[in-house]
Amino acid sequence: MMKIHQIGFIFCILASRVVAVTSSHHSDTQVQWGTCDPSLVNDTSLSCGFLNVPLDYQDPSVGNARLAMIKANATGERRGTVLFNPGGPGEATFAVVNQYKELLLEVTGGAYDIVSWDPRGVGKLTIPGDTFCFDGIEEYIEFFNGTIELKGIEEIGDFSDPADVDALLAQAPEMQKKYEDIGNKCLRGSNGKFLRYMGTAATVRDMVSIANVLEGPDVPINYLGISFGTVIGASFVNMFPERVGKVIIDGVLDPVLLATKEISTHFWHQLVSVDTIYKALITGCALTGPTGCAAASEGDGALDIDAKVQALLRTAYEAAKVNTSAPLTSGLIRTQSFFQMYTPPNWSSLMNEAYPEAVQIIKGEAPGNLSLNRKSSDPTSRSSLMRRVLRDSPSYSAPAILCADSVDLQGTTMADVFNGIIEGTRKASHMFGAGWYAEFYQCSFWPVRSVERYQGPFNKKLANKIIVGSNTYDPITTLAGAQKLTSLLGEDAVLVRLNGFGHTAIVGEPSACIRQTYSAYFTNGTLPAHNTVCEVDADFEVFAGVYTGDILAHLPGGDI
Ligand SMILES: *[C@@H]1O[C@H](CO)[C@@H](O)[C@H](O)[C@H]1NC(C)=O
Ligand SMILES: *[C@@H]1O[C@H](CO)[C@@H](O)[C@H](O)[C@H]1NC(C)=O
Ligand SMILES: *[C@@H]1O[C@H](CO)[C@@H](O)[C@H](O)[C@H]1NC(C)=O
Ligand SMILES: *[C@@H]1O[C@H](CO)[C@@H](O)[C@H](O)[C@H]1NC(C)=O
Ligand SMILES: *[C@@H]1O[C@H](CO)[C@@H](O)[C@H](O)[C@H]1NC(C)=O
Ligand SMILES: *[C@@H]1O[C@H](CO)[C@@H](O)[C@H](O)[C@H]1NC(C)=O
Ligand SMILES: *[C@@H]1O[C@H](CO)[C@@H](O)[C@H](O)[C@H]1NC(C)=O
Repeated sequence: MMKIHQIGFIFCILASRVVAVTSSHHSDTQVQWGTCDPSLVNDTSLSCGFLNVPLDYQDPSVGNARLAMIKANATGERRGTVLFNPGGPGEATFAVVNQYKELLLEVTGGAYDIVSWDPRGVGKLTIPGDTFCFDGIEEYIEFFNGTIELKGIEEIGDFSDPADVDALLAQAPEMQKKYEDIGNKCLRGSNGKFLRYMGTAATVRDMVSIANVLEGPDVPINYLGISFGTVIGASFVNMFPERVGKVIIDGVLDPVLLATKEISTHFWHQLVSVDTIYKALITGCALTGPTGCAAASEGDGALDIDAKVQALLRTAYEAAKVNTSAPLTSGLIRTQSFFQMYTPPNWSSLMNEAYPEAVQIIKGEAPGNLSLNRKSSDPTSRSSLMRRVLRDSPSYSAPAILCADSVDLQGTTMADVFNGIIEGTRKASHMFGAGWYAEFYQCSFWPVRSVERYQGPFNKKLANKIIVGSNTYDPITTLAGAQKLTSLLGEDAVLVRLNGFGHTAIVGEPSACIRQTYSAYFTNGTLPAHNTVCEVDADFEVFAGVYTGDILAHLPGGDI
C-alpha cells in the first residue's frame, strides 16, 4: 500500500482479464513505450508499455504473463531507473504514479526514470490482472448477508462480556465455510488457473526482468517500495543481494512474520501502534477545540473526546442488539475508522464531516449512508494496506497475492482466527482490534500457494546499503517491523524514522526532511546516520492551529 489510493473505477472494467495469455515462451528484450490508456492516466508526460515474462520462471512451458508498465521520465540528467511499487497488494499503480509523479521525482532527485508496473494479479492491463470471485456486488452481498463481513464484529470493552465472545465464536463454522467456498469460487473463476503464479517471489523476478531489459543484466537495481512494496523490497534484496543498487523501503510489513507465521492469527501484532494514533487524533481535536473539531466542546481534553467516542460506540453496539438491521454498527465504525488512522491529513475532514454524520446516523436522525463509507471509495483518499470497499464486485487481488505468499495451510480454524482477534483487542488495540480486516484473515482458508515462495533468510550481505523508513506510529506497518528488518540486515541497512503518525514516512505526514533524505541517497548516495529521526513539517496543520509536535507533546498516557 502506499499509499495511496484505491482507484475504484479501474476495477469495474474487466475486459483485459479475459484476454488469453500469449503462448509464446520467450520474454521480451525491449519495451515499446507509448501513450498511456487515458481512462487510467491523464498526465500526458507519462508513458506506458508492456513486458512479457514467464508465468513460471521454473517452467517456461506454462506460457507468459504480461506486465503493464508506466514511466515518468527523469527531469534532470538521467542516471538510470528507479523501480517503484506502491503496495496493496493490489494498489492501482498507474493511478498512483499519475497522482504522485511529482513526489516520486522529488524523492529520487529527478535523476531517474520512475518505472512502475501492475504486478501479476493486479490491475486491468497486466495479465493475469485483478482477481474477481463474484459476478457482481449483489452476489457478494447476498453471499455475506447478515455476517460480520458486512456488519463487523460487535463487542465492547475488549470482549469483557462473555456473551460477545460466544456470539463471535458461534459464527466461526459458518464463516470458515464461506471463506473456503470463496477460495474455491476464485479457483473456478477466470483467474483461477493463474492463482499459483501470483505472489511476491514471482513479482521480484519480474522486477529483475524489467530492470534487465531497461538497464541491462549487470546494472544494480534501484527500487522504492512502500507498504506492501516493502515485502517485495525485502524479498528482492535477499533473493538478489548482488543486484542491489539504491533501495528504499518505507512502511515495513515484517517479512519474517509473513514468511513464517500465519497472518490470519498474527495480524493483531501489526496493530500495536494504532491506539496511540487514535490518541493523537483526539488530542489534536482537543487542542484545536470546537472551532476546528466538531467532536470537541469548549474545555474538552482528549479524554473527554474519547468518552464521547466510546459512548457513540456503545450506543451503536446497544442498537445492534435490539435491531439487527441497524445501519451503522460499532464493528463497522471500528473497521472504517481504522483506515482513517493512515492519513492524518484527512483527520480534520474526518472529525468535521464524517464524525457528525456518524453521530446523526447512530442517533437515528439521518439515513445510514455515511461519508466515512463514501470517502473510502474516493479515488483521491489515500489508502494503503488493503481496504475493501462496497462498490463494485469486490476485488480479491489482495488476498490472492498475500495468500499465495503464505505459509502452508496449518489446519487453522476460523475459531483460531477469532481467538486471535479477541487477544488482539486486549493486547494490541482496544479501539481497532475487533475490526474485521478480511484480507488478512482468509489465508488460512485459501486453497492456493504460489509455485515459488521466498521464506528467508532476510539477512543476506547486500551489494549496496539500503534505507529502511518508518513512522514512529504507523497503524499497520510498525516501527518494530522496520527495526527488525534493519537489524537483520546489519550494516547494510540504515533506519530513518519520521517522528509522526500515519502509514509510511513518505506519505503519512509531510516531511521535507524525509524527502530530502531520500533524494540525497538516490542522487548522491548519501546515507543518513542509522536511527536518524526526521520531524514532520512544522507548518503542517493536522487540525486548525495544531501541529504534530503539539500532539506529540500532549499525548495522554495509559490505555484508551
Ligand atoms: C487528472 O486526474 C486527477 C486525479 O483524478 C484530477 O485531479 C485532475 O484534475 C485530472 N487532470 C486533468 C487535466 O484532467
Ligand atoms: C522520455 O524520454 C525519452 C528518452 O529521452 C524520450 O524519447 C521520450 O520522448 C520522453 N517521453 C516523454 C513523454 O517526454
Ligand atoms: C438478507 O437476509 C434477510 C433475512 O434473512 C432477508 O430478509 C434479506 O432479503 C436478505 N438480503 C439479501 C440481499 O439477500
Ligand atoms: C431497524 O433499523 C432499520 C434500518 O435503519 C430501520 O429501518 C428499522 O425501522 C429499525 N427497526 C426498529 C424496530 O427500530
Ligand atoms: C484527504 O487529504 C488530502 C490531502 O490533504 C485531500 O486532497 C483529500 O481531499 C482528502 N480526502 C478526503 C476524503 O478527505
Ligand atoms: C443519503 O441517503 C438519502 C436517502 O437514501 C439520500 O436522499 C441522500 O441523498 C443520501 N445522502 C448522501 C450524501 O449520499
Ligand atoms: C548532491 O550533492 C551535490 C554536491 O555536493 C549537492 O549540491 C546537492 O544538493 C546534493 N543533492 C541532494 C539531493 O542532496
